[in-house]
Amino acid sequence: MFALTHSGKRWDISISAQAWFCAPATPVRTPTAQQKKASTMVSRVIPVDIFDLVIFGGTGDLARRKILPGLFRRFCAGQMQPEARVIGAARSDMDSEGYRAMVREAIDEFGAGVIFAPEQLDQFLAQLEYVSIDALGEQGWAELADLMAGENRVEAYYFSVAPQLFGDIAERLQKWGMADVDAKIVVEKPFGRNLETARALNKTLATYFNEDQIYRIDHYLGKETVQNLMAVRFGNMLFEPLWNSQYVDHIQITVAETVGVGGRGEYYDQSGAMRDMVQNHLMQLLCLIAMEPPARFSPDAVRDEKLKVIRALDPVPNYHIVRGQYQAEPCNEAKNPGYRTAVGNPRSRTESFIALRTQISNWRWAGTPFYLRTGKRLAARSSEITVVFKDTPHSIFAEDAGRHRNVLSIRLQPNEGITLGVTIKEPGPGGMRLIDVPLDMSFAETLNPDDVEHVDAYERLIMDVIRGNQTLFMRGDEVEAAWAWTDPIIEGWEARNDVPKPYDHGSNGPTDAGELMRREGREWRKVVQ
Ligand SMILES: NC(=O)c1ccc[n+]([C@@H]2O[C@H](COP(=O)([O-])OP(=O)(O)OC[C@H]3O[C@@H](n4cnc5c(N)ncnc54)[C@H](OP(=O)(O)O)[C@@H]3O)[C@@H](O)[C@H]2O)c1
Repeated sequence: MFALTHSGKRWDISISAQAWFCAPATPVRTPTAQQKKASTMVSRVIPVDIFDLVIFGGTGDLARRKILPGLFRRFCAGQMQPEARVIGAARSDMDSEGYRAMVREAIDEFGAGVIFAPEQLDQFLAQLEYVSIDALGEQGWAELADLMAGENRVEAYYFSVAPQLFGDIAERLQKWGMADVDAKIVVEKPFGRNLETARALNKTLATYFNEDQIYRIDHYLGKETVQNLMAVRFGNMLFEPLWNSQYVDHIQITVAETVGVGGRGEYYDQSGAMRDMVQNHLMQLLCLIAMEPPARFSPDAVRDEKLKVIRALDPVPNYHIVRGQYQAEPCNEAKNPGYRTAVGNPRSRTESFIALRTQISNWRWAGTPFYLRTGKRLAARSSEITVVFKDTPHSIFAEDAGRHRNVLSIRLQPNEGITLGVTIKEPGPGGMRLIDVPLDMSFAETLNPDDVEHVDAYERLIMDVIRGNQTLFMRGDEVEAAWAWTDPIIEGWEARNDVPKPYDHGSNGPTDAGELMRREGREWRKVVQ
């Protein structure tokens, strides 16, 4: 059941293979029997096996903001069993009690995202340990090895540290007997800064671990909608026959942020939007939207298809790229400075915004442009994939009836959901006038908000690590192929010494980005919340 809305009125629509039925709907916010049924369908939580998860960098920003609150939510949901242990590991000198106090504060500060009883937090904290360890020295490793010895549990090591430490940690895990064939390692982005460094990192990790033990995180793959994209594409007959260059005019992928570089200025200025966002997150979304149906929903079947997409991507010529740098907020420069001030580099040529047009050279997509766009300090925080279908081959309606294209939009944030714009007759006696209305499947509204909204990508992915499911993690060859496509683009603008175009704080990016599409008779979707 979908909801179709126009001018505040609403119809519920049942779709069957034979017919679409329209009936007057119940008020918008009242949960329907369908919603109630859906909510019972999604609330099934299967506990994962008992595990020991070591978080290298357990005192860091990512651990405090995402990993530990996420684990607490899984604990509250009953997915993490009382015998499981989480072991924080970092240089800071503290004992397990001190670590528990730090994690309590982190959950206070960043929010659990669920309602919980105080004793639940006490129980969760009791499952935490801490080891003061130096990834570059010998301190703490014997203690960690002792903690991990003996019991038959799932063992996972989360490398939530700077990538320069990945190799040292892997080496020491082996030296101290923790890199056995059942151990799993989770590595954070960035995975290299070009093909050469990514290859070297893959090689280093491969010295100590097999590929099926390595979980390269791209948290975009853990988002509910991203997985739903596969369910919608491959679980329905409706879309796949139209999913090609014959019916699709173009595809847009936008990841817009309202924040600036914040405290990450120094790191970001070495990286930029292309390395930080396009090479990983946007490429992964592109793969899922463009890949062929895998033979089955298994890690290598899915990743093989994604890899084929990356390898079929055309090189991107300079005239299909627009880079930008955000300007200060007028009258509020002290709070929201421009990019160059924020990164402390008045001559910076790093982009905080990029828009580009690419194509996939294969039978399905030849001739269909893919437009990718991401940036900071834009008008809204919004991530969306939009599939714009072609015009009908011939319109039977009068010209003034209007003509609309079907647009399928897949929202990753905020309000995760999928909307299909369909053309209907404007209700009323005004003759045959066509309007575009959304068939809206908002997950939070259709399903139970308690189940959907609070499962963060990180906690979903960590549970997949424990279950040993690599489907939503990048394989080494995928990462290398993505860099092989990205490198020449970056090298091109570096060789030309290109300067990014300025764009206004709170805008849709540089005006040239609009031109990139307008010159082909197309428009970006507006960046709106
Ligand atoms: N933060 C995010 O939102 C985010 C998002 C995506 C990816 N990432 C990636 O996740 C990783 C961690 O990021 P972060 O933001 O959490 O960094 P961070 O706040 O700087 O934390 C780094 C952690 O590493 C530990 N550490 C540093 N040197 C160490 C050493 N020699 N031995 C043992 N531990 C050491 C630090 O603790 P001590 O100082 O106590 O040793 C700290 O716990 C990075 O690869 C980053 O790129 C982060």
